[in-house]
Amino acid sequence: MSLNTGEEAALKAEQVSITFQDRKKRLPVLQDISLAVGQGEFVSLLGPSGSGKSTLFHLIGGLLTPAQGRIYMNGEDVTGMRGRISYMPQQPALFPWLTTLDNVLLGQENAPGSGTGPRREARTEARHWLDEVGLGKFADAYPHMLSGGMQQRAAFLRAMLSPQELMLLDEPFSALDELTRSDMQQWLLHMWERNRRSVLFITHSIEEALLLSDRIYVLSARPASILQVVDVPFARPRREEITTDKEFVELKRELSRWMREEKAKKSAVWGGDSA
Ligand SMILES: Nc1ncnc2c1ncn2[C@@H]1O[C@H](COP(=O)(O)OP(=O)(O)OP(=O)(O)O)[C@@H](O)[C@H]1O
Ligand SMILES: [Mg+2]
Repeated sequence: MSLNTGEEAALKAEQVSITFQDRKKRLPVLQDISLAVGQGEFVSLLGPSGSGKSTLFHLIGGLLTPAQGRIYMNGEDVTGMRGRISYMPQQPALFPWLTTLDNVLLGQENAPGSGTGPRREARTEARHWLDEVGLGKFADAYPHMLSGGMQQRAAFLRAMLSPQELMLLDEPFSALDELTRSDMQQWLLHMWERNRRSVLFITHSIEEALLLSDRIYVLSARPASILQVVDVPFARPRREEITTDKEFVELKRELSRWMREEKAKKSAVWGGDSA
């Protein structure tokens, strides 16, 4: 783990477990998850569908409380507390009745202690960033006038401009076609390298995780536990061509092997049922 010693991690999860219970059955989803995101680190969670990744985000965001374990941010116990993170959900979540600009500004209005902030400055800053990401002309347009990739850029800006330091991004590019997705990965890489927020990023894509992250936690199938922790060795700023480097290809192969083995184990137990 490449956390600086002596510095409180932006996020620390310690032995977090949760089981969902309905009238008929218990569904253990997370089992003893411990992980950390250092200040300004980009960390990914890579795991099979249905393993419990979004559930972990709901726990970190305080929407759920773990049966066991604690969540810390900057050394403070925030287990079960809301409003401490900025969040980009799995589904694009722009409000159709608000303009792009107002959608981008929304994170600042919802944050604790907001309402007193310099609203005009916030609008100017949001317009500046919309220009930067090629959405300047769409600031006053409504989300249905934007392509999927544009909507995701706006949703990302909203998370980035929110005052909370830690960003949780839940598979932000999974609904995009391959070419747009690849453009968006490069875009995110560039944006993050300029802004260096603390990020926890969920993805199914090994290549995406390797391209973007400082560290990758590989999750098992449900109930999810941490199978492997990979420190990603590539220098920053990362070059676009890195994906064809020998070391990248080897790491990708190794990660694929772990994920395939995990899938095979699950199929053996569940008779091929996925998620
Ligand atoms: N509030 C809930 N109550 C009961 N079961 C739930 C609840 N939330 C999630 N689950 C179940 O927990 C499991 C993990 O769901 P989760 O959404 O965390 O998976 P995931 O890893 O994010 O999957 P995907 O990659 O498909 O998004 C699933 O079987 C899901 O049905
Ligand atoms: Mg999910």
